[in-house]
Amino acid sequence: MKSILITGGAGFIGNHVVRQFVKKYPNYTIVNLDKLTYAGNLETLSDIEKSDNYHFVKACITDELAMHDIFAKYHITDVIHLAAESHVDRSITDPLVFLRTNILGTANLLNAAKTSWEDYSKHTFYHISTDEVYGSLGDSGLFKETTPYDPRSPYSASKASSDHLVRAYHHTYGMQIKISNCSNNYGPYQFPEKLIPLIINNIVQEKALPVYGDGSNVRDWLYVQDHVEAIDLIFHKGQNGETYNIGGNNEMQNLALVHILCESVDRILGRPQGEAKSRITFVKDRPGHDQRYAIDASKIKKELNWEPVTNVGTGVEKTVQWYLNNKVWLENVTSGAYKTYYEKHYGT
Ligand code: NAD
Ligand code: TYD
Repeated sequence: MKSILITGGAGFIGNHVVRQFVKKYPNYTIVNLDKLTYAGNLETLSDIEKSDNYHFVKACITDELAMHDIFAKYHITDVIHLAAESHVDRSITDPLVFLRTNILGTANLLNAAKTSWEDYSKHTFYHISTDEVYGSLGDSGLFKETTPYDPRSPYSASKASSDHLVRAYHHTYGMQIKISNCSNNYGPYQFPEKLIPLIINNIVQEKALPVYGDGSNVRDWLYVQDHVEAIDLIFHKGQNGETYNIGGNNEMQNLALVHILCESVDRILGRPQGEAKSRITFVKDRPGHDQRYAIDASKIKKELNWEPVTNVGTGVEKTVQWYLNNKVWLENVTSGAYKTYYEKHYGT
């Protein structure tokens, strides 16, 4: 019987992972551990919170005693670790919180697992990481699992450190581990500080649409449910000690993506085409802005037969519809702490 600790389950990707595991695997106990920072919201999980196999624990992954207690209380057999500070811009203004949560928090969780688990062959620690650890690409090339690490922001440096720690626990102590490094996720329940939900929200509210620099930076967009299917497969069938890159096969320049979002929201809201586009505002570039991320996902395709099924056209349309249908969720998460942060950076 598995009792899986999923950290960061009240965040964007985590809530989709928790929901899938709670519903698809009724024999597993799922323990969602989350600090509920500005990015974590339990409203997101209201549909499954009463499930018999689901537990929520509010705790910080840097809290040593709390982690040991949780491993003992719930007889944790496996970990899927998603809790992190995840927004690059915030890591530029406040790097230390990223280092504490992403590096020390991961180390603390690894240590709780190390001391709680007796026979490592029966347990797995699965770390969810990012393609940003590989650095920045020029016009060509793809990140492979063997690409040397070259992180450039405090966020990516903290995720690179945590990946190294997970591998260190594997090599030094023999802990069974898996790591996946994925590209930019999008879809329902993403906090509206990241590009896609921020632009949708601003179009709806008839605000300026901030594009950093000249909008030529390229990201590879991965629909969140495709990512969850990959996580499910890697957790169950991935090889011990291995890393898997997960990408969406959807490379796009930021400006082109913003144009698609403008067209989609204007059309669905019945506004004249061109209205949203007229509010695109080129703003000061992010310091150290990585130019291009792109993933070679051939390993996970070959070994686990996984491929993304959602292209940007379909995924953006579904995402826009979701945000337009879930205005209350959006209002709730954008009030309070986030609102103050948002106003400080973008004005009212
Ligand atoms: P998110 O910011 O939406 O959610 C993070 C969650 O972690 C929140 O619920 C927050 O409350 C929780 N958390 C933060 N600090 C914590 C702490 N100290 N203790 C306990 N909980 C804490 O992030 P996300 O977009 O869902 O990303 C999840 C994971 O996937 C992260 O590890 C991130 O690095 C990785 N990732 C995300 C993307 C992406 O595009 N979103 C891409 C690649 C990798
Ligand atoms: P983001 O969603 O922050 O993800 P990441 O930095 O992890 O890739 O940003 C995606 C891209 O969009 C990135 O190149 C920065 C750019 N961007 C803007 O142009 N304007 C914005 O308001 C934001 C938040 C991001």
